[in-house]
Amino acid sequence: MSSGPDGAPAGAGHVPVSGDDARRGANGTGPSNRSAPLEIEGLVAGYGGVTALHDVTLTAGAGAITAVLGANGAGKTTLLRAVSGMIKPRRGRVLLGGHDVAGRSPEQVVRAGIAHVPEGQGVIAELTVEENLRIGMMSWPSGLGRWRAATGQQMPGGQQAAGSGRAERAAALDEAYGRFKPLSDRRRKLASTLSGGERQMLVIARALLSRPRVLLLDEPSLGLAPQIMAQVMDLVTGLSREHGLTIVLVEQNAREALAVADHGVVLNLGRIVASADASTLAADVTLRHHYLGF
Ligand SMILES: Nc1ncnc2c1ncn2[C@@H]1O[C@H](COP(=O)(O)OP(=O)(O)O)[C@@H](O)[C@H]1O
Ligand SMILES: [Mg+2]
Repeated sequence: MSSGPDGAPAGAGHVPVSGDDARRGANGTGPSNRSAPLEIEGLVAGYGGVTALHDVTLTAGAGAITAVLGANGAGKTTLLRAVSGMIKPRRGRVLLGGHDVAGRSPEQVVRAGIAHVPEGQGVIAELTVEENLRIGMMSWPSGLGRWRAATGQQMPGGQQAAGSGRAERAAALDEAYGRFKPLSDRRRKLASTLSGGERQMLVIARALLSRPRVLLLDEPSLGLAPQIMAQVMDLVTGLSREHGLTIVLVEQNAREALAVADHGVVLNLGRIVASADASTLAADVTLRHHYLGF
């Protein structure tokens, strides 16, 4: 049997076999064995007769924040949709730790280790905070499936596996509540009662519960007050620096994004027109004038 990049059986995707292994960063094993670059090669995507993305190639470095910038309509959202499987790319490769996931379904892409936080703080308003969070764990294999994936055998006591799955989910929720205190206080409240900042926190927490190696964020600062926006950016920075998550940060707010990013790319009409260190991009007066708006 072939192995994934972190030694997991290929059939199991990246999903860790034991609960401890899964709590990246919390168990001292560090992020290095989990970080993976996202390499996008020659991606072409669009809608019907419209090609919104032309031959886009970029690498989001392992454990780094890569900002994807550009005006409204540049193709930023399309790029994230094509990576996450929400739309099927027409051409190109999407390599996670060397494995091509282009063209897979959204569920398969999540299982492979890429979580997508779409535009617009998409919580399910009629569900409670906790019910929204549990959706993030739907990509987990059942205890039984995990055992089979790890051993290639049937498990003697299926009951036991289901029990440990429950405990693992409870522990993951506890960890989320530990990191996101305002969500902990509101776990039984409907998501509709949350503020914009709390909703953004909830969708990020939900995405993290799928235990991704790569997090795709589509305009997380949109519509938030400056102070809340700063908190969200701090959170994003922490996820990269402390937990080794590879982050693709789509923003129209180029100044804020470049302040936290390591690298940046600029999209214009579906093509990459610049790619450089965040500080280099931020200092480029011509780029700022033409594409970045500051
Ligand atoms: N669902 C859709 N159907 C048809 N065209 C779309 C759709 N979504 C986006 N587009 C078009 O694709 C292009 C890129 O849009 P998008 O990826 O949303 O840009 P951005 O996120 O940078 O604002 C635009 O020309 C937009 O009009
Ligand atoms: Mg967009």
